Amino acid sequence: MHPREPPLDQPARTQATEDPIALFGAWMAEAAKSEPNDPNAVCLATATPDGRPSARMVLLKEVDARGFVFYTNLESRKGRELAQNPFAAMTFHWKSLQRSVRVEGAVEPVTAEEADAYYASRARGSRIGAWASRQSRPLEGRFALERAVAEYTMKFGIGEIPRPEFWSGFRLVPDRIEFWRDMPFRLHERRVFHRHDGGWEIEMLYP
Ligand SMILES: Cc1cc2nc3c(=O)[nH]c(=O)nc-3n(C[C@H](O)[C@H](O)[C@H](O)COP(=O)(O)O)c2cc1C
Repeated sequence: MHPREPPLDQPARTQATEDPIALFGAWMAEAAKSEPNDPNAVCLATATPDGRPSARMVLLKEVDARGFVFYTNLESRKGRELAQNPFAAMTFHWKSLQRSVRVEGAVEPVTAEEADAYYASRARGSRIGAWASRQSRPLEGRFALERAVAEYTMKFGIGEIPRPEFWSGFRLVPDRIEFWRDMPFRLHERRVFHRHDGGWEIEMLYP
């Protein structure tokens, strides 16, 4: 152990005076002003039951005290991994701000009502695309996808497009949220919030 390191049994955690969800909202609002596109893009990591990780980008669609929501195909690789191992991690990186946020916790499905409401808000083409894409499964060629889009476009005509059963959202319920800020000479600032007794504790970490 490094001679100046605090003993591992004495973590330097204190009761947080700031709400990490509000702080995340403030950082996201700043990112929305300075990022060229998709400030809500986030790398989402999931893992198989035996712990083999996989990661991909998704879009954060909602955040509040309950957690961080994204939508996807439930039969995709991430969907299948989350069904078997309902834990995930997310990393945001806003290059224009030189800031990053890391979120970890358990994942739960959003309600059917929430998924319906978000699905209904999407562009008609995206709703048809959700039906046409067998996300993460092998595609024999671009034509097969275009044909599926044409078939669903014909099928739904100008009528309602219901949300596919295999398409919904997940909420990552955070138990750890880290706020990282770039500082000179790589002496970055790391503030970590840990969920504790219904509230949050905070600690700093070496960069
Ligand atoms: C910026 C960006 C945003 C994306 N947003 C989503 C999303 O919200 N939901 C989704 O299912 N895939 C999204 N994708 C596509 C995924 O990264 C990925 O290709 C897809 O979900 C399949 O991943 P999987 O096979 O690991 O399940 C996005 C990709 C990028 C680059």
